[in-house]
Amino acid sequence: MTVNSNDEGRTATKRLADKVAVVFGGGQSVGEGLGNGRAACVRFAREGARVLVADRSLVSAEETVRWISSEGGDAVAFEADVTRESQIAAAIDEAVRKWGSLDVLHNNVGVSLAGGDGELTEMSADSLDSQYRINFGGTALACRHALPIMRKQRGGAIVNISSAAAVGLSPFAGYKAAKAAINALTEQLALQNAQYNIRVNAIMPGLIATPMAVETRARTWNKTREELMAERSTKVPLGRAGSAWDVANLALFLASDEANFITGECILVDGGRIHNRI
Ligand SMILES: NC(=O)c1ccc[n+]([C@@H]2O[C@H](COP(=O)([O-])OP(=O)(O)OC[C@H]3O[C@@H](n4cnc5c(N)ncnc54)[C@H](O)[C@@H]3O)[C@@H](O)[C@H]2O)c1
Repeated sequence: MTVNSNDEGRTATKRLADKVAVVFGGGQSVGEGLGNGRAACVRFAREGARVLVADRSLVSAEETVRWISSEGGDAVAFEADVTRESQIAAAIDEAVRKWGSLDVLHNNVGVSLAGGDGELTEMSADSLDSQYRINFGGTALACRHALPIMRKQRGGAIVNISSAAAVGLSPFAGYKAAKAAINALTEQLALQNAQYNIRVNAIMPGLIATPMAVETRARTWNKTREELMAERSTKVPLGRAGSAWDVANLALFLASDEANFITGECILVDGGRIHNRI
């Protein structure tokens, strides 16, 4: 039996009413379908958040904002490369300047194959360095800039997008190590900031049908989109690759007050794949 995802990402509630969210990587890679960061931005905005959509690609961030605006939501696009600390700081400052607080920080930026990742022995030192700087460094720096603001407010929620690769087998050494570092950082920051009522959690998506995951791999491994999707689906006990809404739904929960007693957790959204050892 195939279990369908929640493709609508809609509810009648306003679980992030009056909250200000900054999403790094709120655009998406070029290709068919929906990316995790864009889905999170749309989901947050539908639940009442004002969203600063930061991305290396301003064009892509603007597309996300257009979607949110077309539904009557409040969002602004901001160009920021997470390997540049000053741009991270500028994005966060802009949200606070515009809306007066920072309630949710969502770190979605991540790159694997397109960043020259692979087996460690096949990787250049430069690729290894850039895997670290994009996948881990960006998240760490964004937290570094958000925490003083959240401490002063005495509250906030940080959601870091890690990967099931952090705890399972991955063909990508740099990506896996960087995502495992995000899990470690999540635990560390959760413990050190609980006294300020700041919660820090991570999501570990499994095989999700985003343009980055599907198009980049199809191109690199010379397969059709359909072949790749079918291959990914057979690896998942629930019988399908996940959708970006599946990831965004957990992000919304963790960002909202409904998750008020949850911190330091790294949670899988993988259709049971990690437990499938048969
Ligand atoms: N798709 C999957 O199967 C899967 C599985 C596990 C984890 N993830 C994670 O989910 C997240 C989103 O993945 P996606 O598949 O939606 O990819 P995506 O490429 O569509 O989204 C990533 C976004 O980050 C932006 N970005 C890349 N480098 C940047 C930089 N240096 N500074 C600022 N922005 C930058 C891209 O422009 C893009 O908009 C990533 O962290 C990824 O590792 C995805």
